[in-house]
This record gives sequence, structure tokens and C-alpha cells, in this order.
Amino acid sequence: MRLQTPLRAPAGPPCRSLGVVESVPESAAPFAPSVAPVEEQLGAPVVEGGPEVLPTPRLELDLSIAVDQLAALQSALPRTAMHYAVKANPHPDLLRALYCAGARFDVASPAEVREALRAGARATDLVYSNPVKRRADVAAAYELGVRLFAVDSVPETEKVAEVAPGAGVLARLVTSGKGSDWPLSRKYGCATGEAIRLLRLAQRLGLDAAGVSFHVGSQQRDPGAWRAPIRAAAEVFGAVRAEGLRPWLLDLGGGFPALHEGHHPSFAAYGEVIEQALEQSFGAQRPQTIAEPGRGIVGDAGVVVASVVAVVWRADVRWVFLDAGVFTGLVETLDEGIRYRMATAADGGPTGPVVLAGPTCDSADVLYEHTPVQLPLDLDEGDSVRLLSAGAYTSCYSTVGFNGFDPLPTVLVGAPLS
Ligand SMILES: Cc1ncc(COP(=O)(O)O)c(C=O)c1O
Repeated sequence: MRLQTPLRAPAGPPCRSLGVVESVPESAAPFAPSVAPVEEQLGAPVVEGGPEVLPTPRLELDLSIAVDQLAALQSALPRTAMHYAVKANPHPDLLRALYCAGARFDVASPAEVREALRAGARATDLVYSNPVKRRADVAAAYELGVRLFAVDSVPETEKVAEVAPGAGVLARLVTSGKGSDWPLSRKYGCATGEAIRLLRLAQRLGLDAAGVSFHVGSQQRDPGAWRAPIRAAAEVFGAVRAEGLRPWLLDLGGGFPALHEGHHPSFAAYGEVIEQALEQSFGAQRPQTIAEPGRGIVGDAGVVVASVVAVVWRADVRWVFLDAGVFTGLVETLDEGIRYRMATAADGGPTGPVVLAGPTCDSADVLYEHTPVQLPLDLDEGDSVRLLSAGAYTSCYSTVGFNGFDPLPTVLVGAPLS
């Protein structure tokens, strides 16, 4: 199996207008028109004052920003096919918009495969990047047409060979996760020698030993983090090529940042370092490359709009309780890993430190305490607090009803795409 040239001319249903689909593949359910007015989506009446009077908490999502981010990342890495990581935000209109802008998809379950197909993608343009999978899920994805799976162990390679005969496999390398705000290093990935053994095994079992994947950790602030795994991947390619195998694909993973607190380089800087590392490590023997960006595409496209439930003084510490918290989408504040920038209805006056907490009775529902946030001293009950660049890993992380609070709803905002 070979992937086509990166981006720009997606196969599948036409994308001329995001709301009008002339044909859909047999496997896909009809596409729902996108970008309904916000009040329609929430079933709420249009009220004077605009979106701020809509119920909180909510995720406001602007599809055009996600499409622009995709274009920016694509132009930074023009030779790499972009497989948007559905797990970051699986909103069907978002998937459709990204598909129409040329994206393919990275999926982690049969449900995500179906969402990607519904958006118009071909199954052969999906990468199933979850290295440890239920047997039934591998079989279901294979049945749906997926032909590329990540693995990082012998049992998983054998499992893929048994229920997805002939499929391609990517051996996932471990990385340090250093430089990222949300490391993904502990749970998945194998060392270079093991990756070589897995590709050999894959070949013996009749699989396509397609190549190597890795992930440098989410919100990776250091473009240099790609250097070591690209070097390691080249070592794996060199070793198995010497034995006659023909690996052809390198999956550069995700990790591209959103505008969270603190600084990070531009996408162009990431592109430069990655291209240079590919050139240095592979030279003329460069394989096809794909990436699996999630946060870098959709993070900046979303804002979680919350309201202040109460401002409470505990001893001499000011606590601000919001109606959004760890269980309503803000899971990535655990360990204060991801630090959202904020804007409030009371901005402009003097500020002071607060402990920021969510609305449930669980004591883990505290967003920022060890490093307090600076919020206006005037902030009061009912004021809105906007958590910026929160389009990724929020709505899909929300619990179904912990403490009786509804899952975080998504409201599409911004101009309709055409
Ligand atoms: C295998 C894999 N690919 C891609 C992603 C997306 O990463 P990011 O959102 O940092 O771009 C993740 C995130 O968990 C992942 O696990």
C-alpha cells in the first residue's frame, strides 16, 4: 500500500460547499450541514446581547481557524501528509471541514474510523495509531478498510497479523517526551532494537513492514525534540533495509502546539528543524512522511466559555469557582499540565492571584493551585471567564454527567465555510 501525494486533492465526496454534499461513499452516512447559528444548535432563543447570554459552560469552535491552522502546518511541512488526530476533537463538522481542506485522519478506535469515513475520508487514508488495541477493534477497523496500524510489541504485531492479514504496520518508537507540556512517553513505544525485531516479525507474518512512528509529546515546545526519534527511525530503516525489507513510511506523530501560556516557536520553525533532521538522517533514502497533529490544528480554534459560580476567601487565599472544571472538559489541567490563557468580563482593572476551581464536589476538581492564576480583583459571580485555545481535548474529555453536570456542548461560531 502507498499513500498518495500529500493533501490538496482529497478523494471522496465533493467539498465545494461544506453544507452541500453531492455524493457520499457507500460506507458513510449523509453529512449534516455545518455551522448552524449558535442559538439554533443549543435550541436557545436569540436573546439580546449575543452569544455571551448563551448557557455556560460551552465550547465555542471556529472551524475556519482549524482550517487555517491545517494550511499553516501543511505549508511548514509541504512534503508530509497531515492526518488530523480525531481524538483531539471529533466534531463531525470539524472533520468534514478538515477533510475538505485536504486532511486525512489518525484514528484510535472503530468509532473514530466511522467518523472519519462519514467525513468523506477513504479507509486506506487512515492510520490507526493506537499501539495497543482490542482484537475485536482491529478486526472491525480492518473490516471497514483500514490497512495501517501502529504496534509496539510482539503480541500486538501477532494480533494484527491474525485479524488484519496483510495490513501495514508501523513500529512505534519510545521518546523521552522532554520539552512537552503533556508527555506521552511512558505508556507506549519501544526501543530501536525492538522496533527492528517487530518489523522483521511483521514481514515473517505476511504483514507489510511499513515503517516507524513516534510521538514527541503533546504541546511540544522544542522543535529539536523530533531530531532524536528521526535519527532512531533512520537506524531502524537502515537495519531492516539491509535485510531486504522495504519500509516506506515514517509517521512523525503530533505534538505541534497551541497558544497556551508561555512561548513556543512558529510552525515554520518546526518544519525547518524536521526537514533538516529528515535530510540529515535519511538523505536520498527519505521515506514518505505523515504527521498526526491534533492540538496544533484545533486547539486555537476553540474557547471554553465559563461563568463564575462564586468567589470565596479561604484564609487569605481567593478561590474562584467556575461552572467548567476537570470533569466538564478541562481534564488537561490535571497536574497543571496545560495552562490555558484566559480573558474575563472584568479584565482591565487590577489583578491578583486566585486558586481556580471547577464546580463539582470532587477535590480533584481544581484547575490551578500550585501556580495560581492572576485574575481581576473585581471578578464576581456571573462574570464570564474565557479559556482560550481550548479546542483540543476538552469537549471529548467531558464526563457524561458527573455531579449531574451535562457534558460540555459545542457551539460553532465564526463565518460559515464556503
Ligand atoms: C498516537 C497519537 N497521535 C497523535 C496525537 C495527537 O497529538 P497532538 O494533539 O499533540 O498533536 C496523539 C495524542 O494523544 C496520539 O496519541
